[in-house]
Amino acid sequence: MPILSYELGHRSTPNPRSTTGARDGHVAAIIKHDTDLRPAQVYSELAANRLAQFLGLPVAIGVAVRAKRDPDSLRFASLKAAEVGLDFYDFTDHDAAFDDDDGADAAPGMHTESGHVSALRRVCQRYPLETAQIAVFDLWIGNDDRPGNLKAALGDGGFGAIFGIDQGASLLCCASRRHEALAQLRRSDFPRFHAFQKLVSPIYCGEMIERICAIPEWAMQAAMIFDDNVGTVTIAEQAEVYDILHERRRFLRDLVSRVLL
Ligand SMILES: Nc1ncnc2c1ncn2[C@@H]1O[C@H](COP(=O)(O)OP(=O)(O)OP(=O)(O)O)[C@@H](O)[C@H]1O
Ligand SMILES: [Mg+2]
Repeated sequence: MPILSYELGHRSTPNPRSTTGARDGHVAAIIKHDTDLRPAQVYSELAANRLAQFLGLPVAIGVAVRAKRDPDSLRFASLKAAEVGLDFYDFTDHDAAFDDDDGADAAPGMHTESGHVSALRRVCQRYPLETAQIAVFDLWIGNDDRPGNLKAALGDGGFGAIFGIDQGASLLCCASRRHEALAQLRRSDFPRFHAFQKLVSPIYCGEMIERICAIPEWAMQAAMIFDDNVGTVTIAEQAEVYDILHERRRFLRDLVSRVLL
């Protein structure tokens, strides 16, 4: 698996306690908070990111952060990938979505509505394992917001690099109201589409389903249930999402067959 590294700020100072020359510094990040549109975004990003890390998925790491001046407000910091020296194709560039696509490029049944059609085909060819892993994971956590939340080096040289970002529209944020999100998550026919649909390998998808079904309960709980509210998401609600995800594993194989294969 390629190493994804993150952007380090220029300034750093010696850490006074370190005996090995460690320095105090800053890592760049995209900082996200809860909004009216996505009132449970911080919880959803955090829980989805911790699940993804446990599963070994190539998504940018994110952590919970709070400012010294405003310790009550918890936010989510998505560590900014160091892109220098790597020629990443930017699926997050909505303006370029339809630049190099012509209708003839689309594979049967693939997702074309968000554009980047030929780049989607290329990324799934170049990274068959990683794209299958991300696609199955997204179906499990109820994330239909993958188009536009991915970057990948598409050239043939080097080891390559691919990473997903922004799981903020999954879990309790897969709909803008919380009770609607919970209802959606309970549905075995949600999500209805995926950016990589009809482009991924059944074998790799099957392996990912098995990996997800084998996650121990303690690991899912550690990823999803905290000792305190996360923003306005109560511990009881965190446990409810955990229960639903647990249940979603029962129909994940059918969902993957219908949407992705
Ligand atoms: N970890 C990261 N590394 C590099 N770039 C990032 C990272 N996280 C976010 N970005 C960039 O910042 C943009 C905004 O971040 P993000 O997608 O998380 O915000 P958002 O408000 O949820 O956007 P949207 O809902 O439009 O997808 C991304 O489209 C991407 O270009
Ligand atoms: Mg985004």
